[in-house]
Amino acid sequence: MCGIIGAIAQRPVEPILIEGLRRLEYRGYDSAGLAVIDGSELHRQRAVGKVEQLAQRLAEAPLAGHLGIAHTRWATHGKPSEANAHPHLSEDRVAVVHNGIIENYAELREQLTQKGYHFASDTDTEVIAHQIMEEMRQGLQLLDAVRSATAKFKGAYALGVISPTCPDRLIAVRQGSPLVIGLGISEHFIASDIQALLPVTQRFIYLENGDLAEVCGDTLRILDAQGSPVDRPVHQSGLSAGSADRGQFRHFMLKEIHEQPQAVAETLEGRLGTDAVLDGILGPGSEELLARVRSVQILACGTSYHAGLVASLWIEGLLGLPCRVEVASEFRYRRHAVMPDCLLVTISQSGETADTLAALRRAKTEGYLGSVSVCNVPESSLVRESDLVLMTHAGPEIGVASTKAFTTQLVALLLFTLSLGRHQGLDATLAASLVDHLRALPKMLERALELDAPIEQLSTLLADKHNALFLGRGGHYPIALEGALKLKEISYIHAEAYPAGELKHGPLALVDADMPVIVVAPNNRLLEKLKSNLQEVRARGGELLVFTDDPEALGADAHTHVLSVPSIDDWLSPIIHTIPLQLLAYHTAVLKGTDVDQPRNLAKSVTVE
Ligand code: AGP
Repeated sequence: MCGIIGAIAQRPVEPILIEGLRRLEYRGYDSAGLAVIDGSELHRQRAVGKVEQLAQRLAEAPLAGHLGIAHTRWATHGKPSEANAHPHLSEDRVAVVHNGIIENYAELREQLTQKGYHFASDTDTEVIAHQIMEEMRQGLQLLDAVRSATAKFKGAYALGVISPTCPDRLIAVRQGSPLVIGLGISEHFIASDIQALLPVTQRFIYLENGDLAEVCGDTLRILDAQGSPVDRPVHQSGLSAGSADRGQFRHFMLKEIHEQPQAVAETLEGRLGTDAVLDGILGPGSEELLARVRSVQILACGTSYHAGLVASLWIEGLLGLPCRVEVASEFRYRRHAVMPDCLLVTISQSGETADTLAALRRAKTEGYLGSVSVCNVPESSLVRESDLVLMTHAGPEIGVASTKAFTTQLVALLLFTLSLGRHQGLDATLAASLVDHLRALPKMLERALELDAPIEQLSTLLADKHNALFLGRGGHYPIALEGALKLKEISYIHAEAYPAGELKHGPLALVDADMPVIVVAPNNRLLEKLKSNLQEVRARGGELLVFTDDPEALGADAHTHVLSVPSIDDWLSPIIHTIPLQLLAYHTAVLKGTDVDQPRNLAKSVTVE
């Protein structure tokens, strides 16, 4: 959601913080702010809108200082405004940046108000600043004051705290929201995402939940949840600062769409044998666990949920194993029956989605055989809390609308299905042919990307519309759902997806010349049925945009626009058919002039409920 960065260095930190904010902006972008300590004084600058607004203000009035914290915000408590932007201060003696939510903030705010503290914002964060100040008033030094204050907070959060009373240290806290420490030479950094720090370091320590770190220029001390000093391992990241650049592309989203052949190739790397998925791709002990599985429960949110829907069709269709899929935000709050010998699978690009994490934590107490996470971020909470992990290797995804993370999730989930299939009687010849098709997939994706220019033209049919309907059948229905979500997210056109057979049960009433109908129509055993559904649309004067690997069978006319998608085995066809829908959403959004990479009201990683 929001982004945090902090730095303590021998050089001025303002440029480091601003560059870090730019790189974090995909996480939240309604306001931004920065505070530095210069000598014994605390200075702050904030601005509503993008980081660029803040950078302009700082260009007019630069802030000196070798210690600072900064934040880019995605509003939870209080509307986007300068007063609600972080850092929040208490009496110019404490400055705080915060990700997450303090659930008991109302009660603490009441207590602090009675003690005479004045609140200048509607945020829960200001409670943190005043509570730390209150602890300092009781005689505690900054580190102990933060420790004592956090003991009173309920919720999931990450904090960066500075005070001119301790001008040589930065305090960092991780309690449920991600936070890393970046290690430099006589300089150290903190951030909610390593992307922010890649220009200054590639060496990171991932804080654990409950950790509190005292970060100085030359030294670093980490205390665990019990207050005992701990050593956490140092990780060398393979990422470089350039991995978050747009390169020749106009938007990160377009770059990430075009990176899919490579991302899929990397997700397959080292996992395919000649005619089977390699043993143990889910890690040590995984084969024994997979052998005991009799059912599968998948949990995820948003796009990752759509990947789960496709996977459930693979697991039931190829293996005959019962497989349920549910959005994590519902599952976590309802009573549910656990199927016999059931393996829990969570799917998340970020590995920090609050609902998915909470659902995993709850499920772990409910008698599942074990948990597998399909995730793109090593060291994320989901990865660390799952028994087994199958990483997607999509690389950093910056565009808020998920693209390469989705197709790599699909690939990882098919690998997972094949791994499970080794123990569930999946026919070896069928498995070998799917392995062959997977190996060919990156090349097929490259061919699908050649549709970029024709789809750009087609998008003119959508850009002036207010609604759109997406249709698909079987494994292509989740792809229709994903296409509709992409269009909604970035073009703000209202879009719905239906299994095509459902059209006549209601949504057909909406179809007229102003309701474009986008159809995913692979040449499979359901094509004839789908063609009847298209006739239903044609008969009502609807405009059809059809993506198919059998264009002849569909018959283009003045109101039926047919685009040919490369033909591939039907089990993998949902992956290929994803590409044109991503491109359609992208080009429509560009025509509409929306903020493609940072669409309104959304954030990349949803770490609050
Ligand atoms: C995708 O385009 C969305 N931005 C969103 O639905 C996302 O997939 C969802 O929030 C889940 O995120 P996760 O994969 O990081 O858990």
